[in-house]
Amino acid sequence: MELQHRTLDLALDRDSDVPLRTQLFDAMRARIESGEWPVGTRLPSSRDLATELGVNRTTVVHSYADLVERGLLDSTVGRGTFVRERAGARTAPRRADATARDAFTWDGVLARSRPLPTLPSGDAATGGVGMARAVGHPTLFPLERIKTAMDRVFADLGRDLLAYPSPAGYEPLREALRARLAKQGVAVERNELIIVNGSQQGLDLVARLLLADGGTVLTSRPSFSGALDVFRWYRAQMVGVPADADGFDPAALDRALATSRPRFAYVIADRANPTGATFTAAARARFLERVQAARLPVLEDDWLAELRGDGEPAPLKAGDRHDQILYLGTFSKVLAPGLRLGWLLVPKALYRPLLALKKTCDLATNFPAQAVLHELLQSGFIDDHVRDLRTQLERRRALLDAAIDTHFPPSIRPRRPHSGMVCWIDLPRGLDVARLVDDAHRAGIEISPGAPFDPAGQQVEALRLSYSAADEAALAPAIARLGKLLHHHLHGASQLAAPPMV
Ligand SMILES: Cc1ncc(COP(=O)(O)O)c(C=O)c1O
Repeated sequence: MELQHRTLDLALDRDSDVPLRTQLFDAMRARIESGEWPVGTRLPSSRDLATELGVNRTTVVHSYADLVERGLLDSTVGRGTFVRERAGARTAPRRADATARDAFTWDGVLARSRPLPTLPSGDAATGGVGMARAVGHPTLFPLERIKTAMDRVFADLGRDLLAYPSPAGYEPLREALRARLAKQGVAVERNELIIVNGSQQGLDLVARLLLADGGTVLTSRPSFSGALDVFRWYRAQMVGVPADADGFDPAALDRALATSRPRFAYVIADRANPTGATFTAAARARFLERVQAARLPVLEDDWLAELRGDGEPAPLKAGDRHDQILYLGTFSKVLAPGLRLGWLLVPKALYRPLLALKKTCDLATNFPAQAVLHELLQSGFIDDHVRDLRTQLERRRALLDAAIDTHFPPSIRPRRPHSGMVCWIDLPRGLDVARLVDDAHRAGIEISPGAPFDPAGQQVEALRLSYSAADEAALAPAIARLGKLLHHHLHGASQLAAPPMV
């Protein structure tokens, strides 16, 4: 299929704060991912499209390059730019189908301007060393103990577990979580707790409620891609502010608050995804003061709350004197993501609307899974398991850091300090990240490029490495291979041959 650029219908809003390059990227991505532009579709040349849209040619060139980096387009000099084959992507209809008069088509039915996120390629299927996903390696999931818990809860609760649970969650589990949060200094009595189907659902519920008619979200730059995808779906504008262990850059935060009126700030103050940074106590106090003065609601994503050790700073929510923080957590990272269990603690004023939205989503969260988690909490297993997991993650982090110090070019280091499951590596300007990620893939290592974590949707010369997701024994050899690739890329080697799989 060849697109006629005169009928592309890619309306760009020149008055919008969103850069034209991002608008064009989002519009084209939506068409590719919805299947409106099927695999194999040929796009117009950047010159033709730029003329048609009345934009600078470099805008189109960059948007195409962004889509190539996302794995949505293939571009070959001399051949042109085509929608790329991806797992699960829709292929172009066969000629006979396409010409059939009565052929059914979804064109025009799918929402046009909603930016669909890219689906993950799935590390597991590649058989390589998976360092792309922020989750534990499957050997870190306590399979046997979860099986025992499942037997126990069915023995105790029997058929009751097969009924619809309450939309807010299994009451004994809610109670256990409230008690846990209270121990962290979080004032649960002024709030309500909803068990959610993974914290991703919490992000969606909050976005549905607070971004129903769009709006702006303030977040760190970089920030968690899964949250950015949700906010974008609700047509939010993103304002990204650089952040590290000292919290948000104060001048940039002030500027962002002065120039936009965000609906809320999305913040990961502990072991952030994707940087691994943790706000110091002073940074927390400064941030709380600032958002309280600005009366800005906050969504705190404490994805690794369970890893918080004695003596570490309390969550932002513990210092929330005015009930302006929604507080989100998950058991995906410290127990098993397949259980799909998270929680959302919200000020009472937001409880009923959020619960109503939760009901429209899924009526309630899986009952047996909630009962299993309750059993694991009550028996004390989770505390032991988390203690052990923290040690394992620390060991992996030390392994990773040591391997990076040995094998990476001296100018390429992770942002430090970092802890948790992932780290962030800034790369020299101009380094072709998409090619590096592709070369790493061919060398059997799955890593994430930085772009999906950028709130403005810009290309960024950076990588996120997950050291929790890989097999521990494979970590150092994988970093050694990646180090070789980085040396080659840094020295501008072209047509690099991937090192053999070890
Ligand atoms: C920071 C952060 N928040 C939320 C989630 C969503 O996780 P889940 O829905 O499994 O709880 C993730 C998953 O990677 C994450 O990294």
